[in-house]
Amino acid sequence: MNDQLRAQFPSLQVQPNGQRLAFLDSAASALKPQAVIDSLTATLAGPYANIHRGLYFNSATTTAAYEAARTRVGQLFGLSAAASAQQLIFTRNTTEAINLVAQSFARPRLQPGGAMVVSELEHHANLVPWQLVAAATGAEIRVIPLAADRQSLDLSNLEALLQGATLVAISQLSNVLGVRPPLAEIVPLAKRHGVAVLVDGSQAAVHGPVNLPKLAELGVDFWCMTGHKLYGPTGVGVLWGRPDLLAAMPPYQGGGDMIETVRLPTGTTFAAPPARFEAGTPAIAEAIALGAAAAWVQGLGWEAIQGHEHTMATQLSRTLADLPFVEMYSPANTGIAAFNVRGAHPGDVATLLDQQGVAVRSGHHCAMPLMAALGLPQGCLRASVGIYTTTADLIQLQTALQKAHRLLVG
Ligand code: ALA
Repeated sequence: MNDQLRAQFPSLQVQPNGQRLAFLDSAASALKPQAVIDSLTATLAGPYANIHRGLYFNSATTTAAYEAARTRVGQLFGLSAAASAQQLIFTRNTTEAINLVAQSFARPRLQPGGAMVVSELEHHANLVPWQLVAAATGAEIRVIPLAADRQSLDLSNLEALLQGATLVAISQLSNVLGVRPPLAEIVPLAKRHGVAVLVDGSQAAVHGPVNLPKLAELGVDFWCMTGHKLYGPTGVGVLWGRPDLLAAMPPYQGGGDMIETVRLPTGTTFAAPPARFEAGTPAIAEAIALGAAAAWVQGLGWEAIQGHEHTMATQLSRTLADLPFVEMYSPANTGIAAFNVRGAHPGDVATLLDQQGVAVRSGHHCAMPLMAALGLPQGCLRASVGIYTTTADLIQLQTALQKAHRLLVG
């Protein structure tokens, strides 16, 4: 990507500790292009009002923009406008989307003796909501373990894990290792056993096209992503669900906008999805800005994005492989590289990198079970590329790591 693209990201001008910024933490949250910032400002400074509630100009305008954003986001993921209007729910983030499915879909279907299946490489957002349901229902959590190569999943026992289970929850792209669990293998097997499938698309949604109708064809029942990793704002994400399942699910939260009629003392009835699952005033400006982010990404085109990210991912791998003191955990060329400097605490390395303008994530990456499986009680470092990453960022990372190693290990 060229300088013109980088110029669209005002945050790249920030100089941490007086240094040029090498931002290599897009997997945690991406920086925002001017188009997204402008969208937020335009909603808040323009004909703003609450949505779905007023008959006056501002409310109608904002409602139309909010619903247009739903269509726009759905379009990025291959949905027709009609499908988005029925099947795409705005949530606060992936975490809320998974909690919604856990409480409204899984919980009513589970009891002692029941089970949910997760993998050992999941983000906490795709583990803890299921654990809460397990605690509430007496169901058990079964785990697809990491394989001996410590970079993929061991599916040899999957059939047994799926026996009698209600749901399997699996990441589309690991936020630590950058690997893609083989959905083409896992999902059809789950379907053969009558097990519902939720796919956490938080990372995958950012790095290449996701086609929800195709995932539905494969057998995926629920899919979710968060806006802030896709160059959009915080506070908004989406949950996609099969219409028949969504229609049969009880609300997750109660409040305004999700009802049909309210009666006292009981007898309240609920709106159809997606409104049923969007209780209260939503993140209006943020949802509209997520629509702007989706349009912006589509404007760049996946081919260009993937081409650039592949180049950067390859360079990132070489950059780290060139350093003999680096221990790698991710496979080559994933664009999400988990590693450590041998003999140094990842937190100390990250602090020294920060002093040199390099932003990486350190710690357990919201994946403590994976860290345990990798034998990394102190966690690790993670560098991740985005569409604004340049060779200069990677050279800066390499130089900064050499200095950190010199200072910490000698
Ligand atoms: N899920 C985010 C990460 O991987 C926060 O860093």
